[in-house]
Amino acid sequence: MMLKVIGFLLLTALGVVCNNVQTPLNEPVKVPTFFTSDGNSGKHLSALEADRFTHLQHSRFPNHRIRVKKTTFCDPTVNVYTGYLDVDAGAKHLFFYFFESRNDPDKDDVMMWINGGPGASSSMGLLMELGPCSIDMNSTSSNGTLWNPYSWNEAANIFFLDQPVGVGFSYADFGQTIQTTEDAAKNIQAFITIFFETFTQFKGRPLHLSGESYGGRYLPVFASEIYDQNTIAKQEGRPELNLQSVIIGNGNTGISGLYPGRYEIECGTAALEIPFQSISNCVRMKMALPRCQKQMRENCIDQFDLINCRAAINFCDSELSTGMWASGRNVYDITKMCVGDDLCYHENTAIIEYLNLPEVRELLGVETPYNFSGHSSEVGAGFGAHMDKFNTPTQFHVANLLDRGIRVLIYAGTFDWQCNWVSNKLWVDALEWSGSDEYSAAQWRDWSVEGRKAGEVKSTPLLTFATVRGAGHMVPHDKPEEALTMIQKWLKRQHL
Ligand SMILES: *[C@@H]1O[C@H](CO)[C@@H](O)[C@H](O)[C@H]1NC(C)=O
Ligand SMILES: *[C@@H]1O[C@H](CO)[C@@H](O)[C@H](O)[C@H]1NC(C)=O
Ligand SMILES: *[C@@H]1O[C@H](CO)[C@@H](O)[C@H](O)[C@H]1NC(C)=O
Repeated sequence: MMLKVIGFLLLTALGVVCNNVQTPLNEPVKVPTFFTSDGNSGKHLSALEADRFTHLQHSRFPNHRIRVKKTTFCDPTVNVYTGYLDVDAGAKHLFFYFFESRNDPDKDDVMMWINGGPGASSSMGLLMELGPCSIDMNSTSSNGTLWNPYSWNEAANIFFLDQPVGVGFSYADFGQTIQTTEDAAKNIQAFITIFFETFTQFKGRPLHLSGESYGGRYLPVFASEIYDQNTIAKQEGRPELNLQSVIIGNGNTGISGLYPGRYEIECGTAALEIPFQSISNCVRMKMALPRCQKQMRENCIDQFDLINCRAAINFCDSELSTGMWASGRNVYDITKMCVGDDLCYHENTAIIEYLNLPEVRELLGVETPYNFSGHSSEVGAGFGAHMDKFNTPTQFHVANLLDRGIRVLIYAGTFDWQCNWVSNKLWVDALEWSGSDEYSAAQWRDWSVEGRKAGEVKSTPLLTFATVRGAGHMVPHDKPEEALTMIQKWLKRQHL
């Protein structure tokens, strides 16, 4: 059975190549040939197997190569693949997991999921939030994971990508890191293009980019890069990526509402009926807020100045964030205390231990020369040095995408402080795009799952904003059924 499916995948690739041979010569050659690393085309493709990588190359991307293998990791009910995209003449290696859909892999859309950080591994989202299996915290399973009935591969073919290089299992031979979102976008665009060229049965399938947190900065830029490269591809008669939507959970997109939003979460009733922060801290915050906003506007937003913007952020953080850090609460879910490591969840440590087990690395085909860490502080520091979070107004990317017909779903768990729903609402409400009047005029309404209220939603055909009540930053972790229902409806273009 396993071999049959691999055979199908490879034959599909081969079939297209063969058809191409018969293409009349005056037509542009659209389909590239693949060959394995030993240079023999064709028969060695059947070597895609579980115990070693098959190397796939693409004539249009001479500097890139995909290494892929089949694996029994995580979801025994579907085909699962892991591998690396080697970029920049093989010096940088991006690790991915790919799970076929549990529903209808031959017809369902393709989705990418990324975690944020910057520096956070998407393996965390996979094993803690929306992946086909979850880390087994109670040692009840023999394989370290538990099957997740609410995985998003119930609705789509999904890949999880560790990016940028230096994050999770992704690495660079000479230790280089990527330090800006714009640089990361180039590798993502190449990765996704090669992915669709390699897994040819998915070619032309609707593509959705999803993620959370710093994904609010990453994804609009990645989607814009894909859109712009599509335009070039079209001019040159090459296949385009069928980008359909961007899905951002508790994202960090527009920065203007960052601190006012946090004030509302701590000192208002945006999250809890009774604010948890002390009155004295709330007064201190309230008084600092106008100055924080003014300095941010002058030095980060109206015109970006690295030194002055950093000074503004330092002021805002010291006046407006100190009380939250001192509270000991989980910044991703204010109803809980921070436990475990800095990331406040016991799962983090368990996932890191699990992914460092030699047998798990072998199952995944990990060739990363160092141990897995859930978060790369080096990558985080690189982005921090560039003030990547503050120096580009990413909401402009969102507006441009919407104006070109790319759908955007912004969702947010209401207990998050870090990238809270109020901050998100503030930038979405202020968004300047062709449908802004329609969005302003739309009414908020409740949405529910199985008769239970899940949150509130406001939408136009292109833009949807949904809150998820009772969830923190990691919505699929806290409200798995609600999160899956939301995604299923979004992919089917149904109202929440
Ligand atoms: C791991 O074990 C759990 C519980 O025993 C099971 O549900 C799951 O399918 C297993 N996963 C794999 C990849 O075999
Ligand atoms: C694991 O055990 C804890 C404590 O007994 C319990 O609260 C939790 O629900 C269990 N988790 C799972 C996934 O069974
Ligand atoms: C990886 O972790 C293991 C176990 O903690 C340790 O023995 C080993 O030295 C680490 N390797 C690297 C490259 O850090």
